[in-house]
Amino acid sequence: MRLSALLTVTGLLTLATATPVAMHAPLPNLQPLRTRQDNTTNTTAPCAQVSQAIYGQADRPPTPTVPAKIAYECIQSVPLNVTSAKLLLKDIRPYIEWQSTLTVLKNPPAEYVEKVQPAVDIIGGLEKIGASVDSGQYKSEYEFGWALYTLLQSAHDGHFTYVPDSVGTIFTWGRTVPLVSVSEDGKKLPSVFAFEDILGTQFKNISYTPSAIVKIDGKDATEFLEALSQYGSLQDRDALYNNVFYELAQVSLSNSGAATGMFTGGGRGRWVYPGPTTTLTFANGSSTTIENYARVLQNFRDIQTGEDLAAKWFYYASTGDDDQPVNEDPSTGVTAPGYPNPVVPGPNNLINGFYIDAPGYENVAVLQVPNFVGDQSAEVDFQKTTKDFLPKAVADGKTKLIIDLQANGGGTILQGYDMFKQLFPTLEPYGANRFRAHESVDLIGQSFSAFGSQFPRVDTKNQTIRSIQATYFDYHSDTDVDGKPFTSWADKYGPIEQLNDKYTNLARWNLSDVHTVWNSGGIYVTGYGPLSNNTKTSPFKAEDIVILTDGYCASTCTIFSELMKQQAGVKTIAMGGRSNKNPIQAIGGVKGTNNYQWGYIQSLAQQAKIIAPADQKDKFNNSVLSAYASDIPYQRAASNPGVNVRDGLRQNDTSGIPLQFVYEEADCRLYYTPEMTVDITAVWKAAANAQWGGKGNCVGGGGYGKREADEVTTSLKRRRVNRRMNAAVLKQFQAFEKSFSLETECKMNGDGFMRP
Ligand SMILES: *[C@@H]1O[C@H](CO)[C@@H](O)[C@H](O)[C@H]1NC(C)=O
Ligand SMILES: *[C@@H]1O[C@H](CO)[C@@H](O)[C@H](O)[C@H]1NC(C)=O
Ligand SMILES: *[C@@H]1O[C@H](CO)[C@@H](O)[C@H](O)[C@H]1NC(C)=O
Ligand SMILES: *[C@@H]1O[C@H](CO)[C@@H](O)[C@H](O)[C@H]1NC(C)=O
Ligand SMILES: *[C@@H]1O[C@H](CO)[C@@H](O)[C@H](O)[C@H]1NC(C)=O
Ligand SMILES: *[C@@H]1O[C@H](CO)[C@@H](O)[C@H](O)[C@H]1NC(C)=O
Ligand SMILES: *[C@@H]1O[C@H](CO)[C@@H](O)[C@H](O)[C@H]1NC(C)=O
Ligand SMILES: *[C@@H]1O[C@H](CO)[C@@H](O)[C@H](O)[C@H]1NC(C)=O
Ligand SMILES: *[C@@H]1O[C@H](CO)[C@@H](O)[C@H](O)[C@H]1NC(C)=O
Ligand SMILES: *[C@@H]1O[C@H](CO)[C@@H](O)[C@H](O)[C@H]1NC(C)=O
Repeated sequence: MRLSALLTVTGLLTLATATPVAMHAPLPNLQPLRTRQDNTTNTTAPCAQVSQAIYGQADRPPTPTVPAKIAYECIQSVPLNVTSAKLLLKDIRPYIEWQSTLTVLKNPPAEYVEKVQPAVDIIGGLEKIGASVDSGQYKSEYEFGWALYTLLQSAHDGHFTYVPDSVGTIFTWGRTVPLVSVSEDGKKLPSVFAFEDILGTQFKNISYTPSAIVKIDGKDATEFLEALSQYGSLQDRDALYNNVFYELAQVSLSNSGAATGMFTGGGRGRWVYPGPTTTLTFANGSSTTIENYARVLQNFRDIQTGEDLAAKWFYYASTGDDDQPVNEDPSTGVTAPGYPNPVVPGPNNLINGFYIDAPGYENVAVLQVPNFVGDQSAEVDFQKTTKDFLPKAVADGKTKLIIDLQANGGGTILQGYDMFKQLFPTLEPYGANRFRAHESVDLIGQSFSAFGSQFPRVDTKNQTIRSIQATYFDYHSDTDVDGKPFTSWADKYGPIEQLNDKYTNLARWNLSDVHTVWNSGGIYVTGYGPLSNNTKTSPFKAEDIVILTDGYCASTCTIFSELMKQQAGVKTIAMGGRSNKNPIQAIGGVKGTNNYQWGYIQSLAQQAKIIAPADQKDKFNNSVLSAYASDIPYQRAASNPGVNVRDGLRQNDTSGIPLQFVYEEADCRLYYTPEMTVDITAVWKAAANAQWGGKGNCVGGGGYGKREADEVTTSLKRRRVNRRMNAAVLKQFQAFEKSFSLETECKMNGDGFMRP
């Protein structure tokens, strides 16, 4: 994709509010298609087999699938272009400097290393990859691409991604059998089951007794899945483990969630080659082998060899402008399977208000928030859902509130602040953040601050002015840590030296800022600006609210939950986790508070040169800002790459350690039970029991690693069910799953959003 084409005044409208998720749209062909007469090819070559498998199919689906094995051999047959690999490694370096945790990742706090993830040296890793390119160690584009992808992925920062063409443009991978990890009764240790078996016990008249999966490809099933889960985007290992499985909240998000779980190629699982087959061995001694598949994302007509594939779909040389893909989010808006009808429905299943229609739970309201919305057209309705639901719930006699954040990968930062303020109008959100201080940030800040300061800071219609003034880089944006204005760019930039690196001075969002609507994509924050007349008191007391997560709470979700926990004192319940009895974390996704897509950084660098003061143009032209000119990082990527630019810091913290590296246990841990994988109200009831019922199943500490046989779930009882009702529910499950396809990239544009 060509971002320079977006550098128009109107283009900045999109870039400054929320950077667009620009996919690798099919580019124009670089070469004329080979004709059929040109038949000197080796038709046994793997890419020819892929082509034949597709074009041999009579009814070709829009995204064909082929056996994983031949797709893997095909992608492995694309030879490495050493020249391009070296250019790519050089041209991505300026963007890597923006990763706020770059230095801490190399030397994280001991507790993080012990309980979360090991240290990773990104710069050192890039140098190693460069040396391996030079020494001819990579046999294919794929080997090189996979090394680059997994280096950044090993940071376990959902905002920090680079998906090379070889990893994500041609094929994605899948398995046909979704799994769940459930405890039979909420007390025994959970085991892995095929989701189909759960559907069987709940909805079908099956004749066998479902048995746990004990081995996958000959390895202990939990060990196999824990290893697979490490390819996920989250940092917390229990949250990563949950993400392997089928889960109602992810499914409810349709294309923007992790679908039916990483094991089946949902979320980041789509980029992990699963091998040709997968063999599942059950506790009852039987086993089954399934063939894995690849989704073919590009046209394979007339492609015979890896070289053909490279010529057609790898962009080594500069190409003309391509069309910006249209970001249409086909969210269904229909009730997701396993969910009741909402009392107050929100836009696109991103937020819904529910009651629990069951005796004993009459006083409980549930605000289900699996996302903080990234689509501008939904911002106003998203805010309104909470605004409508909370007073209605109170009026209807609800005294307890569950905030269900399962599967929440974030979204619009200011929606997180707004929801907090709707719940606790009298508290002043803290939310301090900082950038890594490096030359590009400084130069962009100097240029933007000089330009922005020429004009009054008012709600102007002039988009050029607004798009500069509204960014972090005009020092008039944000307040300092005490809520006071910064006095100059130098005052905002600092830098301060800490943890062997340099950082900008702590900043906080100015929630009264005149440019709030620009930054939020459409809303003012409750309690500020035009909404400052909100004098309401909290609709629920802190002890009558509980936050429920599956660990998949990232980005804006972590901003919101940090405010809720630290400032309001709300408790957390974490679901699932690995099969042990340890406490687990509730917040397991990236706690960085802002991601930038690289294309946005490129546009900032270019804009900073263009608007630089006339007498300083030379200085800016001859600076590091020129290192962002290359389009190679975009041409060689499957989607617009991302980087975490802002660390989140805790109030009263003096260590300077970003929240990303702070380990915190949930107040309660609950196992998933079979019912919870098909009926979300079973999760809510368990949470209400644990929090307010005095009869919950919070998993105690102790017994680390010990799995006493009599306490492990090994099989599931069949249940007697109302067949007519359940046939309909089963149909709903199957229809909903068919309504979206796993390969679709997330379409969220939020500025604090982690893509699944
Ligand atoms: C091209 O090669 C295929 C496979 O070897 C063969 O079946 C086909 O007849 C050839 N076509 C021509 C025009 O030679
Ligand atoms: C045809 O392709 C296969 C698989 O890549 C390879 O093993 C074989 O050597 C090739 N044959 C010729 C004649 O190039
Ligand atoms: C379930 O299936 C068994 C045979 O597999 C049959 O005997 C029984 O009547 C069925 N039960 C119901 C409720 O349909
Ligand atoms: C063993 O368990 C599997 C998985 O639940 C099931 O498909 C299979 O029918 C069971 N085999 C027997 C003999 O019960
Ligand atoms: C390899 O990459 C270089 C640099 O981008 C490009 O000029 C060259 O054409 C590529 N080679 C092939 C075989 O595509
Ligand atoms: C916006 O402001 C800039 C800077 O003063 C000016 O050059 C530009 O013409 C203005 N645009 C519009 C549409 O008024
Ligand atoms: C925040 O923004 C408002 C409106 O633009 C402004 O009046 C106020 O001075 C700002 N606060 C700080 C601390 O900069
Ligand atoms: C607050 O101000 C807004 C916008 O001016 C208005 O719509 C709303 O009714 C006011 N609310 C109260 C409680 O006064
Ligand atoms: C931080 O310190 C202030 C002043 O002592 C206190 O009011 C506030 O509650 C503290 N915040 C947190 C999150 O501990
Ligand atoms: C700076 O670079 C731009 C193009 O990138 C060019 O138009 C301009 O003339 C240069 N200015 C100076 C002073 O070199």
